[in-house]
Amino acid sequence: MTSILVIYASDYGNTEKMAQAATDAIAALADTTVVMKKAEDVTADDFTGSDGVLIGTPVHMGSMDWRIKKMIDTVCSGLWMQDKLNGKVVGVFASGGGFGGAGGGVELTFLAMLNNFAELGMIFVPLPKMIEGYKKGGLQWGPYGRSADEDMNHGGVSEEVLALTGKHGVHLARAAKALKEADIFA
Ligand SMILES: Cc1cc2nc3c(=O)[nH]c(=O)nc-3n(C[C@H](O)[C@H](O)[C@H](O)COP(=O)(O)O)c2cc1C
Repeated sequence: MTSILVIYASDYGNTEKMAQAATDAIAALADTTVVMKKAEDVTADDFTGSDGVLIGTPVHMGSMDWRIKKMIDTVCSGLWMQDKLNGKVVGVFASGGGFGGAGGGVELTFLAMLNNFAELGMIFVPLPKMIEGYKKGGLQWGPYGRSADEDMNHGGVSEEVLALTGKHGVHLARAAKALKEADIFA
């Protein structure tokens, strides 16, 4: 059995919808369990008990939501001290208003997160461009749901992005299954 943890922060529901889409898609896989949790509710046991972790954030001032960063600096850093996250699979997704039409800082947001996960010794699963739906909200780092249009009308993240996030979750779960027990940094 492969265990996947989907973590998110969300104020207005967009990132939560993406987390739910990933959770639903992963739940449909055979021999796979999935738990979806808000960042503030995640414990060290949630991390150590999972084979792969998918983490979603809203873009806040061009970086990750403070609740995601707090979780990394409190829960994850304790596990870093014990070398307990080395080799665990991780993936990311984000939603943002995207004012200006160039992503509103989403790429920096992803990179800031990935820097943290590299520090923790985790194995990153990217989003290759051949994945169906990539052109509707994909970056190589992960799915990006734009919750507002160029005039800042808040229509919410699109169905295409939700479907893409589901596919990303499935790929992450498959990667986690493949690397389970591999203990590659032993
Ligand atoms: C405090 C704050 C800062 C934000 N900063 C950005 C930003 O830098 N770039 C961006 O594209 N969107 C920004 N937004 C918009 C949110 O990222 C966007 O509305 C997102 O979809 C919200 O996710 P949620 O519905 O899960 O809360 C910001 C929103 C808030 C509340």
